[in-house]
Amino acid sequence: MRELEQGRGGGPVRLGNVLNRILTMPSPSEEELHWVCEKHGPVPPVELKQFDAQGNVVRVLRRIRGRCRACMAEEEAERRAREAELEKERRLRRYAAAFPVAEMGRLQFCTLDDFEARDGAVTALEAARAFARGLPAPDPPGLLVWGQPGNGKSHLAAALANLARRMELAVAWVHAPSWLTYLGTLEADERDDLLQRAATADLLVLDDLAGGRLTAPRVGWLQDLVDARYRRWAPTVVTTNLSPGQLRTVLNRVALGEEGLEDVTGDGDRIVDRLAELCVIVHNTATSYRLGVAQRRREDGDASG
Ligand SMILES: Nc1ncnc2c1ncn2[C@@H]1O[C@H](COP(=O)(O)OP(=O)(O)OP(=O)(O)O)[C@@H](O)[C@H]1O
Ligand SMILES: [Mg+2]
Ligand SMILES: [Zn+2]
Repeated sequence: MRELEQGRGGGPVRLGNVLNRILTMPSPSEEELHWVCEKHGPVPPVELKQFDAQGNVVRVLRRIRGRCRACMAEEEAERRAREAELEKERRLRRYAAAFPVAEMGRLQFCTLDDFEARDGAVTALEAARAFARGLPAPDPPGLLVWGQPGNGKSHLAAALANLARRMELAVAWVHAPSWLTYLGTLEADERDDLLQRAATADLLVLDDLAGGRLTAPRVGWLQDLVDARYRRWAPTVVTTNLSPGQLRTVLNRVALGEEGLEDVTGDGDRIVDRLAELCVIVHNTATSYRLGVAQRRREDGDASG
C-alpha cells in the first residue's frame, strides 16, 4: 500500500510504473497464489485484466496473490472502533471543559445511595432511581423535581449527573442562575457554542430553573435550550422551587432593564408545555434538610452546653 503512495525518492508514483513493476515481477507459484487465511480460509488470487474501450476483458495480464477480504473488513472495523473511541474521549473532554465538575461544588459527591428516604422525598427518590435505571435512555427522558428550598432536589439531580459521568456520558450540569449570567458575558458565537453543547449533551441538568434574575434574553436562551432537548427527546433533569403553574407565570414575565419593569413573553408557557411532555414531574414535599441539620446542631449545642 505504501508503495502506491510513495515513490522511491519519496515523490508520487505514476500508476504506469506500478503496473509495470507488477507485470515484470516473477510470476507467483500456484501455491503462493492460492493461499489460505488461518482465520477465514482460502483466498482466491486477483486477476489483473486488460480491457478494451467498451469495457470488455481482452485478456488476463497476470494473477497476483489476493488479500483476505474478511481480514481487511476486520481491520477496517477495528480502525473505526478505535476512531469512535477516540472521538468519544475527545467529546467527553470537551464537555468536561465546558461544564467543569468543580462547578458542582459539594454536589459532585452526591449519590442516590447517600440520599435518605425522608418523609416527602420518597417519590422523588423513586423517580430518580427509575431515571438512573433507564440511563442512557430513560423513558420518558425527563425528570422535573420541584419543592421548597433545601429538601434534596439538587442532590438527586447531582446523583444522576455523577452516575451518568461514571457511565461515560457527556454531561452538562447547568446551575441556571449562574450559567445564564455567565452566558450574558460571552460573545454571541461563544454563547451559541455553549448553548449548542448543552443542547446536545447526553444528559442535561437544569438546576434551579427560574432562579436568579430573569431577563428577556436569559429566558429566551432557556426556551431555546428546552426546545432543543424536547425536539431531541433527550435526557434532561430539572430542579426548581416553583410548581409548574408558578413556573409558567414567572418565566412568562421577564424583567426589562433595571427599573423593575416587566414584559409578558409567553416563553414560560412554551418552556413548561415542553417540560410537561418530556418529564416525569414530582413534587418533593420534604422539609428542608439544611434546616434539619442546623436544628440538630443547635440541639447538640444545647445538650453539650
Ligand atoms: N434526603 C436527603 N438525604 C441526604 N442528604 C440530603 C437529603 N436532602 C437534602 N440533603 C442534603 O441537604 C443539602 C441541601 O440539599 P439540596 O442542595 O439538594 O437542596 P435543594 O432542594 O436543591 O435546595 P434549593 O431549592 O435551595 O436549591 C445538600 O447537602 C444535600 O446533600
Ligand atoms: Mg438546589
Ligand atoms: Zn482472513
